[in-house]
Amino acid sequence: MASPFFIIANWKSNKTIEEAIKWVEDISVLWKQHNIPEEQIKVILCAPFLHLSTVSTALFAAELPIKLGTQDISPFENGAYTGAISAEMLKNVVQYSLIGHSERRKYFKEADEELFEKVKQAKLAGIEPIYCISAPDAVIPSGIKLVGYEPVWAIGSGKSETAENASTVAANIRSKIGTDTSIIYGGSVNLGNIKEYKNANLNGVLVGKVSLDPTAFMELIAQAL
Ligand code: PGA
Repeated sequence: MASPFFIIANWKSNKTIEEAIKWVEDISVLWKQHNIPEEQIKVILCAPFLHLSTVSTALFAAELPIKLGTQDISPFENGAYTGAISAEMLKNVVQYSLIGHSERRKYFKEADEELFEKVKQAKLAGIEPIYCISAPDAVIPSGIKLVGYEPVWAIGSGKSETAENASTVAANIRSKIGTDTSIIYGGSVNLGNIKEYKNANLNGVLVGKVSLDPTAFMELIAQAL
């Protein structure tokens, strides 16, 4: 059976807890109006740490098949690392973690060595890394099954990489690290271009801005069918 198309929402540094709960309530109503087969579309929500537990309970209560992910993870195990959220703490709360998003690399000065430690910690806790790169030649640690390809200029800019170029990059990455690696494109994915990515040789999309609005996000999911 073909693997599902990933739609990964990244809320980034947005939403109060009340807004997060309202998002789940709204998605829950909208989800019932669409028939989204789980074997075709896999939705992952990368919410802020603060909201994970609340959102997890709300998703479960609404019986929504949306999986949870974090936007980051500590490179350290449990211990004296003030302010850090370890993979061990996130075990059984999330199944996925974005690692190496370009905003983490840029604003938090995260570099390869630290990111490799994050991957290691995530894996030890059974959390699947979604390893983000912004250039096709970036170093990808071994054993990564999900790669997010996000050109920096396309993120939040309204200017997206063409599906054709993204597919070429995806093919290059697969040829280097294995054909069973899923390559997910991110950068200004919206209602106008989702179908192109769905029909390209890609395994999914990472969605920032559009994922904040439940109506637009649900419409995007429906368009990807
Ligand atoms: P965007 O963000 O959809 O707002 O461009 C994508 C991302 O950074 O994951």
